[in-house]
Amino acid sequence: MITFDYQNALDFIGGEEAVARMEPQVKAASDMLHKKNGPGNDFLGWLDLPTNYDKDEFKRITKAASKIRRDSDVLIVIGIGGSYLGARAVIELLGHSFASAATKKVRKSPLILFCGNSISATYLADMMDIIEGKDISLNIISKSGTTTEPAIAFRILRAYMENKYGKKGAKERIYATTDKAKGALKGLADKEGYESFVVPDDVGGRFSVLTAVGLLPIAVAGIDIKELMKGARDASKAYKKLPLSENPCYQYAAVRNCLLRSGYSTEVMVNYEPSFHFMTEWWKQLYGESEGKDRRGIFPAGVDNTTDLHSMGQFIQDGARIMYETVVQIDQPRRTFLIPNDKTNLDGLNFLSGMDMNEVNAKAMQGTILAHVDGKVPNLLIHMPDQTAYSLGELIYFFEKACGISGYLLAVNPFNQPGVEAYKKNMFALLGKPGYEDQKAALEARLKK
Ligand code: PA5
Repeated sequence: MITFDYQNALDFIGGEEAVARMEPQVKAASDMLHKKNGPGNDFLGWLDLPTNYDKDEFKRITKAASKIRRDSDVLIVIGIGGSYLGARAVIELLGHSFASAATKKVRKSPLILFCGNSISATYLADMMDIIEGKDISLNIISKSGTTTEPAIAFRILRAYMENKYGKKGAKERIYATTDKAKGALKGLADKEGYESFVVPDDVGGRFSVLTAVGLLPIAVAGIDIKELMKGARDASKAYKKLPLSENPCYQYAAVRNCLLRSGYSTEVMVNYEPSFHFMTEWWKQLYGESEGKDRRGIFPAGVDNTTDLHSMGQFIQDGARIMYETVVQIDQPRRTFLIPNDKTNLDGLNFLSGMDMNEVNAKAMQGTILAHVDGKVPNLLIHMPDQTAYSLGELIYFFEKACGISGYLLAVNPFNQPGVEAYKKNMFALLGKPGYEDQKAALEARLKK
């Protein structure tokens, strides 16, 4: 099981009593979630998803994934935000570190490429170079079906697929994950006859990794999605419990709230495995988009250690005291590597001979935590037992549930994202989208100043 250790935060928040005092608020937040009577309560489908998921669709996902694994060298996943980060996070954490450079035999799956998560011409054009001559399948993912970034990429890739395979052949290789009834993508998928998967109405993008949004690409990568769901299911049972002292997920929510009230408004997610990088990106979206509203929230940031100890380490050790750290340690990483003895010992490293690099990494982590705590950076430590689908399912649910509780502790609606619309309106106006004429003139005048 995931464990949570907040001993190194207690001195900064007024001790264990400060956490214990949160018990009534945490209970109220937990009741609101489970009774579904809090803000955003129409987006709580993720809460019971590990048990109440569509079993028939799950079978279709498994079947489609097997077909793609058989007939494709590359799966292109088109989506942005919650419609891609979860899948990418899971695939990168559990897959080969050099998947794109590895042969299919080493990777044990088609190559999975992500696009439609930016408007970069260079990125897309470079990706087109990579897929030349390869057999492709496409998974377009958009809950609304109207998001500009994936829509542009899909327009380009749909034409590419139809040109390469013909309309009928392309239809057999394009999979749409979207709303069950509405949106431009749903209309297109129905018209063209693409196999479709559903983003449930009551599951928001950033909480959707355990729906078809995440599960289809994850299954294509050869990851055991049943185990992923099992880990999440066990977590959903374990993290219902009260009192607070018996629920590490609720403790994480409570302690970060205490830290915020003690002046720590930035949370830095820290890993010691480079493959965790996109889990941090997923977590950043989950917490940033859920909590950052009404002029409130903890700013979610991330570092990859020990790499970033040589860039951000200075600031964290010594700079403005605005942040606390949450370290995720993987107790048993995917692989081991022994450090060899060297007769000459010119580098002076023979004291490490015979040691597994994982042991060295763990000591680096322990030493860093102590140094940062000495530098007045509170520390939270999450232990993930191993790098398996089961443990990752558990961790995903841990963060999702804590996010719901944490949002309610902050008195925001954790399940909406009104702020995301502002840039879209300006972009459409500047691009001359019909209906935005007035805003266009006003924005252009501001840009000329
Ligand atoms: O969490 C969210 O709701 C957002 O990040 C969305 O996932 C993102 O904007 C993409 O939206 P859509 O799936 O509608 O294309």
